[in-house]
Amino acid sequence: MSKVTASAPGKLMLFGEHAVVYGYPCLVTAVDMRVWVSVVLQKEPQIDLDVSIASREYTVPLRMLSEAEPSFPGDISFVMAVVQRIFRQFNLKTGLKISSEGPTDSYGLGSSSSVTVATATALNQLLDLNLSKSELFSICYGAVLDVQGKASGYDVAAAIYGGTLYYAKHGQTIRRLTVDKLPIMIGYSGNKVQTVQYVNQVYQLRQQQPELVNHIFDLIRRIVDLAHAAIIEQKWHEVGQLVNISQGLLDSLGVNTLSLTTIILAARAEGALGAKLSGAGGGDCMFAVCDEADLSSIGSAIERVGSKRVDLETNVSGVRIE
Ligand code: MEV
Repeated sequence: MSKVTASAPGKLMLFGEHAVVYGYPCLVTAVDMRVWVSVVLQKEPQIDLDVSIASREYTVPLRMLSEAEPSFPGDISFVMAVVQRIFRQFNLKTGLKISSEGPTDSYGLGSSSSVTVATATALNQLLDLNLSKSELFSICYGAVLDVQGKASGYDVAAAIYGGTLYYAKHGQTIRRLTVDKLPIMIGYSGNKVQTVQYVNQVYQLRQQQPELVNHIFDLIRRIVDLAHAAIIEQKWHEVGQLVNISQGLLDSLGVNTLSLTTIILAARAEGALGAKLSGAGGGDCMFAVCDEADLSSIGSAIERVGSKRVDLETNVSGVRIE
């Protein structure tokens, strides 16, 4: 068979970050920041990779895939982790060429989950594996865990199913919300250290203050449930309030930064209904919920404090064969 290409979207965490790592629910929307992965068979017993997130091209001999714990360079770790899982599950021994294209800067909006899901989906098609979406989810989530150690899997679900999702219990519950576009403006506060470092920091805090952190997680769960209903009913004022309360709780978990706070307060001062960080914290993105008419002035307020306004469509479709 000739070349197969799949593309998968990025994600914006709306509510529930950190708590979701412990099985609590979250809400996430897929964003129009797609990664394209192409796969083609080759005779050489190796995998050639030319992926946009890597600094150079790589060749991996097939025999490495049967090593117990092969170590792949960081920039190809997600692609190779998912290839390895699929090769082992189906006892495959075929050479491949894998290439990918995507944004040079993904602002922490999910390039690793997108590339993992697009790779698995392209292989599913190329090799006629007949994997269902939920089987793809298990394989891709497993691959992300192989690389990161700890992760909730919500970003993998967003890349596979697209839309806006209620996600809980490490993927045992995935429900799509009936919504159209979300009135959201995204701002980028700058780079951060690895997500896993912030996940570990919250883990430590929970070890030290289990009662308090569990109460915070219970509040986050309640907010997710209220926001779920408010989003479906398009009650954006209420969604904004819940966004602001969430930001306070995330601050109490110690994952906020000065630059995130600066943009969040600038967006609120400009009339946003609510603004919060999105994801692990420590940098990357925030978003503001606003009246449709205020989107552009809130985008300008984000730029005035020296941050990048990121214009992206939300609630977009999940992985697809191109
Ligand atoms: C990071 O995007 C969101 C976290 O909840 C981690 C995860 O869910 O895997 C901090």
